[in-house]
This record gives sequence, structure tokens and C-alpha cells, in this order.
Amino acid sequence: MGVLDRREDEEVWIADGRERRVVCGSKKEMSAGYKVAIVGATGAVGEEMLRVLERRKFPVSEVGLFASGRSAGRRMKFFGEEVEVRELRRDSLDGYDFALFSAGSGVSREYAPIVAKAGVVVVDNSSAFRMEPEVPLVVPEINGEDVFLHRGIIANPNCTTAITLMALAPLHWLFGLKRIFASSYQAVSGTGARAVEELREQVRAWVNGDEIRPRVYPHQIAFNVLPHVDSFLENGYTREEMKMQNEGRRILHLPGLVASVTCVRVPVFRAHSVAVTAQFERPPEIGCAVEALRKFPGVVVEDEPGEAKYPTPLSVAGQDECRVGRLRLDCALENAMSLWVVGDQLLKGAALNAVQILELLVNKSGGEDGGGVDLKEG
Ligand code: A2P
Repeated sequence: MGVLDRREDEEVWIADGRERRVVCGSKKEMSAGYKVAIVGATGAVGEEMLRVLERRKFPVSEVGLFASGRSAGRRMKFFGEEVEVRELRRDSLDGYDFALFSAGSGVSREYAPIVAKAGVVVVDNSSAFRMEPEVPLVVPEINGEDVFLHRGIIANPNCTTAITLMALAPLHWLFGLKRIFASSYQAVSGTGARAVEELREQVRAWVNGDEIRPRVYPHQIAFNVLPHVDSFLENGYTREEMKMQNEGRRILHLPGLVASVTCVRVPVFRAHSVAVTAQFERPPEIGCAVEALRKFPGVVVEDEPGEAKYPTPLSVAGQDECRVGRLRLDCALENAMSLWVVGDQLLKGAALNAVQILELLVNKSGGEDGGGVDLKEG
């Protein structure tokens, strides 16, 4: 797999045993490259997937947009051209090279195996297959090599987990991660487009003194915080909270990792923040930690608390990089460090990560964003 031949404006790629001719330049890219489908194209993540494919100039010859019957006929723009959204059916994706799924677990469970069987490589943003041993769960900067073990389906991790691990992976390679305690502050766009509208409506209603009637969340979300993301489990945690441990173990290849997390929904439109305390095998050292984080692709250190410089959701929304600040040795736990990490969950936590996985598959990225593996211990 990789670039076979390169001329001034044309590259020949070999991916999945097939030869592709890719003409560079945004207009021409529409006519050469890969056939990519987005399932859930009208959703908060789906729309972002379309924009990321465009922005990163992924070589797309044809884009297919699929959603429920409700959205059939709607038009969305890709490289200035209007593309019609179609209702997803069992044979809709025949002939595509790649499919990005972000239409919820039910849709993924029903359609992804059929699509994969038909030879389309699926990158699934839902939690449907994340714990399946034969499905790689991948954050490209951390365990990109796992992507090549796929058998048709690759899972995109939970957004809060991906953002937190972007800060913790380089520290793990230095000091040996044992335990995570974390609280998240999660934006409403993580719930989807309807939740974004709900927050807008509730803010308007509050300003006008109108009655507020929650529909998406069980309580008012405007001017409130809800310690409730995803459904509750018997152990008192939510599914979202347990993802940090369960998915973290797979992504870091660390079966002994334990994590105690409280996930909180906050009235923020976009970007998740996480307050993390991490305990390590060896005593952490702040200078080394900052250096490792600065070198890690996809992470920016913003840590001058005296100057009020630390990441916030408003400053991180729309950015590809996760930003880390408030790094300090923990004052209550041995061999531990506390930090604050913020990431745009529609990007690194979803659409960007999915497109980076496609880039790994066609062996395109890495170069731009890659590297960093030199921080790993063995
Ligand atoms: P639609 O807009 O037609 O409902 P979000 O996470 O922002 O709520 O978006 C969910 C996405 O999943 C939307 O694009 C939605 O399409 C799509 N979706 C929901 N149910 C289905 C379904 N049964 N088949 C295909 N797409 C679906």
C-alpha cells in the first residue's frame, strides 16, 4: 500500500490491492479518487465529515450522502457542487470504496455488516462495534497501526475518550498510565443537531421569559448542568463514563487501565472539556510532560495560568488540535498529574478522526500529522 508513482499533478496510489489515479487540485479531485459515502450526512457529525473531506482534500471521485427518508431530496454542497441526500437502503452503498457511518448504533448494527460484506470499508462513529475484538478501535496518532487489522469495519472512538487520550497517550509512554479520574464538561452538539436547537430555543425562551419545555434532555439545559450523559448502568456509572476505561484499554493496549469518570452535559454548543487526574507507575515530571505534549501531533499546550491562558471550549471549537493546560502534579494522589484538556468533539472526537483513518488506509496522511511514535516506550 502507498504511493506508487508521483508526477506534478497526479499520484498513483495502491490501496487495498487496487490502483487509484488521483489528480490534485480541488476541482479535479471530484473526478478522480475514491467513492466515499456518508451515512447520517445531515447530522451534526455527518455534515462535519463532509467539510473535513473537503478541507483535507481527501481524494474523492464521488461522494454519496445518505440519511433517513425524512431528509431524502435535501441538497448539500461539496466542493461547490450540490449533492442530493438519499434515503439509506440495503444496497445503497454498493460500489463505494469507503463509508463513514454516523447515524447511531442501530443504523450501524443493521447496515455496516452488509456494507462491509459488499467490500466497502466502513469507519463507524457509533459505539456498535467498538468492543468487538476483530474491529480495530483507532486514534491515528496513538494506535494508527491497528487500522490495518480491519476486516471491513473500523471503529471511531467515543469523543470524550479520544480527546482525553490525546493528552494522556504521550504521558503514558513516558510514565506508564495506571489510573484515570476525570470529569467531563460535554457540549450539546455531542447529542446531535436536535440538542443544539434545544439549547438555542431554551436560551431564547429564557430571555423572553417564556416557558421552557425540555424535549431532548430530561431537564432544562440552558443555564444548567446535567450529570447525565448516556444511559445508566447497574454500577451507577453511565455507559459514556465507562467508555474511557473500556475503550482506553483497547486504544492504549493497556488491559489493566482503570478509570472513574463523571460525564456532565453543559450548556456549551461545541467542544468537550475534561478535568483529568492521571496516576502513573513512575513519578511524573512536569517539564518532560510538557515537552512530550508539545511534540505530540494533534496536541497544543496552552498553559500560562498566570496570564489566564488555558484552553476553553470557545477557543477550541472548530480547531483540529486538542489543547492541554493547567498541568500540575496532583497534591492528593501519589505519582499523579492533573490537567485540563479541551477538544472539538465533532472534529477530533468524530469527523476528523474518521477522515484521518481513511487517510491512513490510503497511506496519505501520517506525513502531515504523523510522527510522534518516537515518544513510545517499546
Ligand atoms: P435525518 O436527518 O434524515 O434524521 P444527529 O446525530 O445530529 O441527530 O444526526 C443523526 C443522523 O443520522 C442524521 O443524518 C439522520 O438523518 C441519520 N439517521 C437517523 N436515522 C436514520 C436511519 N434509519 N437511516 C439512515 N439515517 C438515519
